[in-house]
Amino acid sequence: MSDRLAIPEAGLDHAEILNQLKSFREGDADWKAGRTWALVYYAGQAHADLIKQAHHLYFSENGLNPIAFSSLKRMETDVISMTASMLHAPPAAVGTMTSGGTESLLLAVKAYRDRARKLKPWIPRPEMVLPRSAHCAFDKAAHYFGVKARYAPIGADFRADPKAMRKLINRNTILLVASAPQYPQGVVDPVEDIAALARAHSLPLHIDACFGGFVLPWLERAGHAIPRWDFRVDGVTSISADIHKYGFAAKGASTLTYRDMSYLKHQFFVSTDWPGGIYASATIPGTRPGGPIAAAWAAMHAMGQTGYTDVAQVALDTARRLHAGIEAIDGIRPCALADAPVASYMSDSDDVDIYVVADQMTERGWEVSRQQGPPCVHMTVNANQAPVVDAYLDDLRAAVAWTRSHPEARKAGEAAMYGMMAKVPIRAFVKQSVLKVMESMYAPGVRGMPDLGKLGAGEGDDPLLRLVDKYGDQAMALLDKAQGAGARLKAAAEKLDPRR
Ligand SMILES: Cc1ncc(COP(=O)(O)O)c(C=O)c1O
Repeated sequence: MSDRLAIPEAGLDHAEILNQLKSFREGDADWKAGRTWALVYYAGQAHADLIKQAHHLYFSENGLNPIAFSSLKRMETDVISMTASMLHAPPAAVGTMTSGGTESLLLAVKAYRDRARKLKPWIPRPEMVLPRSAHCAFDKAAHYFGVKARYAPIGADFRADPKAMRKLINRNTILLVASAPQYPQGVVDPVEDIAALARAHSLPLHIDACFGGFVLPWLERAGHAIPRWDFRVDGVTSISADIHKYGFAAKGASTLTYRDMSYLKHQFFVSTDWPGGIYASATIPGTRPGGPIAAAWAAMHAMGQTGYTDVAQVALDTARRLHAGIEAIDGIRPCALADAPVASYMSDSDDVDIYVVADQMTERGWEVSRQQGPPCVHMTVNANQAPVVDAYLDDLRAAVAWTRSHPEARKAGEAAMYGMMAKVPIRAFVKQSVLKVMESMYAPGVRGMPDLGKLGAGEGDDPLLRLVDKYGDQAMALLDKAQGAGARLKAAAEKLDPRR
């Protein structure tokens, strides 16, 4: 008989269920203590309690049918109106709430693809041009909707390079993309220059402000110089902004706002012949939970413009303290001075492998976001993290010192795996390896995550992951060489590019 879990024959006692649920959390990231620099956005317990209540009030309602639940449609309209005001949208602006940043980006790409099908039916294979730093949900959208993503290299300051983007525009281009800010380093792309490009080529321009849409306006209001990026820029046709990030709503709430209906109408879906009835839907899901809509409405009303501004200011101050502290540590440096409450750092010395530093910070109890291209660490900063800055910097100093005195550590644990993954020039191999990890995660009955650090040490069956364990430094050195050769080849190819 299989030992697969089944629904219990008789329902369990409610108190016991709740106890179990609480106990499951024991190994989770300790975000309330401020040790998690991503994933959770927090504006204090009183605010969290309010949005929980709001969510709870509309827990069962379903936005799928706005006639049955006109309350949800009303709140969605209010949320979009408040967002459009914040983004300086014209009076004709329209939009929808979505379940999150990814859905907003998927829908934007789908809408622009369908618009191009209508307006430019001669385009066989639509393409969008975006900076390499654009969120990977665009890649997902490209994959789902058959739009080719053409990535332009970014500048040394991590911002989009409009000249590099211009080179990728051709007769199949249907959309340009920029971020405000991009996630990895938190810098805002030069939207005014990219919008000029969009106008010159009569192309729509989507601004992905999923991450920063609910914080940059308030930093500007507080007097910070933020490069222009919203609807005040002529040529910006749509903006995505997540309320479940710096808008401090419950998870499952983003917005997608268009300059006018001529864009939004391509997002809609109508099925006319289903025996279940005529079915019209503005976004991807069928059933739309009411809770996140009500919680977003509550969050925006509770924070108010002054609340958002105060919290944004403290978050930015906290990020700037981290930035200054990182600058003062020998062996690492900040990647960039972010426009949003973000800090990020990379190695500044041959004897500091940033992935070993990351492993060391994990050991010291911090949740760490490892990034690539270049290898670095990302930190999304919230106001409630102001009290932990000194402790973080103390640990970071110690982690860098430890890394310097343990050169062998780059061959072990997650550092080895990330180091390897970042360097392998043929990305299809990396993809294969990650797919293998996903297969092991979703194998029957697997409840947690496989130990990534051990996958290379003979526990996984993926050849790439095992390679690093077996050949360690030799494999790394080979990959370094391959990367160098790759970069030289790319530079040579660029010189030969006739469009330059
Ligand atoms: C710039 C940007 N766009 C899109 C997303 C995707 O948002 P979500 O995780 O809510 O789907 C993120 C998430 O961090 C982001 O930073």
